[in-house]
Amino acid sequence: METISLERKDGVVKLILNRPDKLNAINPTMLQELGAILSNLIEDDSVKVLVVTGAGRAFCAGADVNEFTKLTPSSALKFSRNGKEIMRSIENFPVPTVAAINGYALGGGLELALSCDIRIASSAAQLGLPEINLGIFPGFGGTVRLPRLIGKAKALELMYTGDRVSAEEAMRLGLVNRMVQSEKFEEEVTAFTSKLASKSPAILRLLKASVNASSNSSEEVGSEVESLAWASAFSTDDQKEGVKAFLERREPKFLGR
Ligand code: COA
Repeated sequence: METISLERKDGVVKLILNRPDKLNAINPTMLQELGAILSNLIEDDSVKVLVVTGAGRAFCAGADVNEFTKLTPSSALKFSRNGKEIMRSIENFPVPTVAAINGYALGGGLELALSCDIRIASSAAQLGLPEINLGIFPGFGGTVRLPRLIGKAKALELMYTGDRVSAEEAMRLGLVNRMVQSEKFEEEVTAFTSKLASKSPAILRLLKASVNASSNSSEEVGSEVESLAWASAFSTDDQKEGVKAFLERREPKFLGR
């Protein structure tokens, strides 16, 4: 792969955007490679947690602005739809996804982070939607996901001004789940993702499917999916092990089935 690298350890797969000299800006090759990697990983039952992060000093500085000199309305529509397909496959990825925001997360880079379940920001990170300064606005789902996450008023403020916010401010806004001092960033991300990977992958999958179903449908449908998913947890060995271990006062050994 030209623009992405992968690292795997104990069920945690790290997808690293790898164009550090261009602050990991998303070009068509990166979009295409992201799509290919995600369709492979989605079939891989050994993946317990997916981490998205960036090489070098940025998470991702957005779509590659050089591409914008060539876009027409019809190719722009295609670009936006392709990007959204990737964001959606991350949002619907069957196991927990974590954006490890090591530096700049701007424009499409922030939209990528927004499609992950959880965002952890380094204290060195800066986040924002600067598209307005280029005479455009977010086209990879940011106008939908950001207001849902932090509320319409704050989301519009970020989109209207194009201003970047610090990791600290992002914490205050509820834009990121956690902020970690930059020197301890890797260590803390690993500790957090290892914790997720120690849970039952079968149950994590059911849990995520339930929450996604309720976010994308009526309360009634979401609630019914929860009951069905909850009931199917009782078909797993992990449910039996979890309860048994609790009653025997020991740590559970989950096998993911
Ligand atoms: N598209 C294409 N190239 C980008 C890019 C983007 N979105 N963001 C950064 N780069 C490139 C720069 O052109 C530069 O390449 P060069 O060394 O070949 O000239 C390299 O990455 C480093 O960026 P630079 O601007 O020199 O770093 P900086 O530390 O001075 O500034 C930013 C960092 C993030 C503030 C600045 O790069 C920036 O504003 N980027 C654009 C962000 C944006 O508008 N994103 C939304 C796009 S829709």
